Amino acid sequence: MLDDQTDADLSRHAGAAARWLALCGLEAAPEDIIATNGAQHGLFCTLMALCQPGDLLLVEALSYAPLRGIADRLGLKLRAVAMDAEGLCPASLEEICCGTSPKALYLTPTLQTPTAATLSYERRRTIARIARRHDLILIEDDVFGPLKPDRPVAIAVLAPERTIYVTSLSKCVTPGLRVGYLRAPGELGPALRHAVNLSIWMTPPVMSEIAARLILDGTAAHLIAAQRHAAARRQRLARRVLSDFDYASDPHGLHIWLPLSAGWRADTFRLAAEGRGVLVAEAQRFAAHPADSPESVRLCLSHEPSETRLHDGLAAVATLLQNRK
Ligand SMILES: Cc1ncc(COP(=O)(O)O)c(C=O)c1O
Repeated sequence: MLDDQTDADLSRHAGAAARWLALCGLEAAPEDIIATNGAQHGLFCTLMALCQPGDLLLVEALSYAPLRGIADRLGLKLRAVAMDAEGLCPASLEEICCGTSPKALYLTPTLQTPTAATLSYERRRTIARIARRHDLILIEDDVFGPLKPDRPVAIAVLAPERTIYVTSLSKCVTPGLRVGYLRAPGELGPALRHAVNLSIWMTPPVMSEIAARLILDGTAAHLIAAQRHAAARRQRLARRVLSDFDYASDPHGLHIWLPLSAGWRADTFRLAAEGRGVLVAEAQRFAAHPADSPESVRLCLSHEPSETRLHDGLAAVATLLQNRK
């Protein structure tokens, strides 16, 4: 493994990747899968392969925080697609596509970060139809997908000919294993492989081997189940501590999305929480257009290893909210 990979290693790793995608609900031939160093690397390679400086990239109005920085570095223009409580609004997507020529839409249909929303099957189908009508490429980030057993099918299943599916083991198996996969329409494969090649030459064989063993011997599936269980327990804990407040969450999600009551601004709330030793992420970090961000914060329930400390942190948040009610 510390030497060059053999053909046998490569073929086993590709088989493991296909098995992982099956756990995600996707059928994929090993040759349609591209290994990456995690989902963020996959996302970066995807944008590098697809887009030219000046291209327009559509994103959910609130989206994965590093995306703004990546788009900025690649010289891409970002445009926000409106969201409601169920996630991305297809009507907003249709309207934007009618007036402009976006290159692609990046979205997280399941357990969206930061809003915790999961798109219904109907919305996924509508989004696939709109994308087909406007010849739009979809970049589906599904890092949380396997955590939610009752999720609708991936958009990559509904529109495989135009969807680049981005997945990794970091959220569902273990965060230190920097292994992810892209599943893309065949004609995009060479450009994506080239982007991986330019950025890291190849994914580290040792990491690929660890991931393959975890996937092939069933440990990865077992760890997904354990993560689901832990997430559900932590969500119940949060529900008990924050029972007086409205927020968005999912029983299998790793975070909650908390709109602040009238007296709070997101930035001052973040600072007040920080003063009590609690880190929260304000909406602005996730906003495609920061000036339009709501007064809301995201609370991550998975990062703190101790549930006692998580409870105390949530109780500190509840006290802050209570004081301004
Ligand atoms: C929505 C989303 N996509 C991608 C990533 C990056 O995943 P990875 O750790 O596999 O690079 C994260 C990490 O927090 C995320 O929340």
